[in-house]
Amino acid sequence: MTPAEQGTSRLTRVPGVLYGGDYNPEQWPEDVWAEDAKLMREAGVTMVTVGVFSWARLQPGPDTWDFPWFDRLLDLLHAHGVAVDLATATASPPAWLVRAHPEILPVTADGVRLEFGSRQHYCPSSPAYRAAALRLTRTLAARYADHPALALWHIHNEYGDHVTECFCPRSADHFRIWLTHRYETIDALNHAWGTAFWSQRYGTYDEIEPPRTVPGPVNPTQLLDWRRFCSDVLLECHRAEREVLKELSPDIPATTNFMSMFKALDYWKWAEHEDLVSDDAYPDPADPRAHVNAALNYDLMRSLKGGRPWLLLEQAPSAVSWRPVNVPKKPGVQRLWSLQALARGADGIMYFQWRASRAGAEKYHSALLPHRGTASRGWQETVRFGAELARLGEVTGTTTPADVAIVLDWDSWWALESDDHPSARMRWRDLLHPWYAALHARGVTTDFVPPHADLTGYRAVLAPNLHLLRPEHAARITAYVQGGGHLVCGPFSGVVDGHDHIHDGGAPGPLRDVLGVGVDEFWPVPDGQAVRLTSGAEATLWTEWTETEGPETEIVDTYASGELTGRPAVTRHPHGTGTAWYVSAHLGDGIGPVLDDALRAAGVRPVLDVPEGVEATVRTGEPGTYLFVLNHSDHDTRTPLTGAFAAGGTDLLTGAAVHGHLALGPLGAAVLRIATDSPGENQK
Ligand code: GAL
Repeated sequence: MTPAEQGTSRLTRVPGVLYGGDYNPEQWPEDVWAEDAKLMREAGVTMVTVGVFSWARLQPGPDTWDFPWFDRLLDLLHAHGVAVDLATATASPPAWLVRAHPEILPVTADGVRLEFGSRQHYCPSSPAYRAAALRLTRTLAARYADHPALALWHIHNEYGDHVTECFCPRSADHFRIWLTHRYETIDALNHAWGTAFWSQRYGTYDEIEPPRTVPGPVNPTQLLDWRRFCSDVLLECHRAEREVLKELSPDIPATTNFMSMFKALDYWKWAEHEDLVSDDAYPDPADPRAHVNAALNYDLMRSLKGGRPWLLLEQAPSAVSWRPVNVPKKPGVQRLWSLQALARGADGIMYFQWRASRAGAEKYHSALLPHRGTASRGWQETVRFGAELARLGEVTGTTTPADVAIVLDWDSWWALESDDHPSARMRWRDLLHPWYAALHARGVTTDFVPPHADLTGYRAVLAPNLHLLRPEHAARITAYVQGGGHLVCGPFSGVVDGHDHIHDGGAPGPLRDVLGVGVDEFWPVPDGQAVRLTSGAEATLWTEWTETEGPETEIVDTYASGELTGRPAVTRHPHGTGTAWYVSAHLGDGIGPVLDDALRAAGVRPVLDVPEGVEATVRTGEPGTYLFVLNHSDHDTRTPLTGAFAAGGTDLLTGAAVHGHLALGPLGAAVLRIATDSPGENQK
């Protein structure tokens, strides 16, 4: 058995860690394909994504199809042992289609119709687009369902990329239909949208339009429903294609590539319609903390299907081409960041793209096979890393345990970032990031959960912000604490209900009992200013005038400068057999000590005590337990192997036995198969 055959990936029938990338052969003469296939083999590529932007080539006219070239391509890949992730090709409608049906082109909130000449130029509500997309999907599925190369269906590409909403008349109709399903009566809609305000009352559904550009502030609930609708309408397109694939090709898993933590799509809902979660991730090599943000996104991807392995479907081998300045990955970074995805539950590492384009908007984007060809540094890394991944097959199918969960709710994110709030500076990612970074720095692995999740398995649950909170979700959180859980809740939470109406009695609304505080008034901090706390922490962006409610609420920290001096800033409240912390300010990196208090009380321990800049995570299951240790710093590190890892193990990357401590150079990494008590039992 080759090492790659030792583990069977649970994502597809392809064994081992999936390795490959987007392959766009239509950009190349056919004689290049043979070289591609040979080089893929040399690099250890096991799967490539084909067809993503092939619509115009596969269907050159309304009733003309051109499949022989695609047949030859799939046969060639199969002959070289490369499996295919076959795209439905529906993300870039051909010119003939948009000229025949100009209404396919999307329209902005200002009424501008976006022209042909880029990609993703479609209105998701357009019947002509949908019919053409489904016809293409059906034709592809019928032709290739039984092709031996086919291992995965790739539905569309990055739903919501470039265009997340369309304001054309057809979309407006569709929005009205969606609203009638949601509210049934117009009275219910009027109530939900608070249309008594500013004379916005509607007499019939026909009077409603999408939230186009308006003279002043738009109705916030109209906007919130619009965001829900836009996520749902793209999901409808996705589900329609998926149904065709399930009908004609039921044995092949189907996925669509998510875009990490992406505001426009409620990925909790979407993930229910994925056989496996796949992600496109483009951390910026110019950002020294990029790996922390990447960890966050990978934890989300793992969480979207309750911890099941996921697939990193796209990342850049080096530089991208779409930032103002596109810095390459220095040697070792792409390997380290790829292993990071694996460390956080991925079972496949893929890239955009296989061969660097010579023309088009992405000709400066890096590729596994760069313009300079096999002499390039990039190609050498491609081959070297392929060989390394082939040694990691046994980790596939194992999972990444986490004691801590962060609550993420797209509804709340959308409501938080509505206009005309006490401060426009309260952005979900900015609020979340310091909390996640504190956990990351402490070596604590974190899941994400939706607000309706069962929280009972977690030692601690963090809610950096839950601006919109439905009473039923608050009841779940409260029951979790009541039953012994540990909750830390951030500022500006429990403010509005599912209609974006302020909760009775103000914030924290239905969390008042569990938190033991009431918020008297929001006190945002002007730009460039800070408020001191007694502990020495500093609040920026946001503070609140809070009052403890009930004798049991303990004041953990108080404001020590400005108008709120002496008032509670951070509180702790016992509830049932658990404890709830309320943090009324944005503390940025100063959130660490508050989380330490909660993690200590909850008995949360790091995976392993690691030096600064080193990340450790565990994957466990059949056939073993694997400790990933990654050195993101630019200096040598020494990590003692203690606790559950005291027996040491075998580094799958090198085959070396490791005991006592792990020495890693700059950007170094190790994947230790942890020795069991009876030596040799778990060894190959
Ligand atoms: C992704 C997209 C790919 C390619 C890549 C470049 O968003 O799916 O087709 O454009 O970005 O980084």
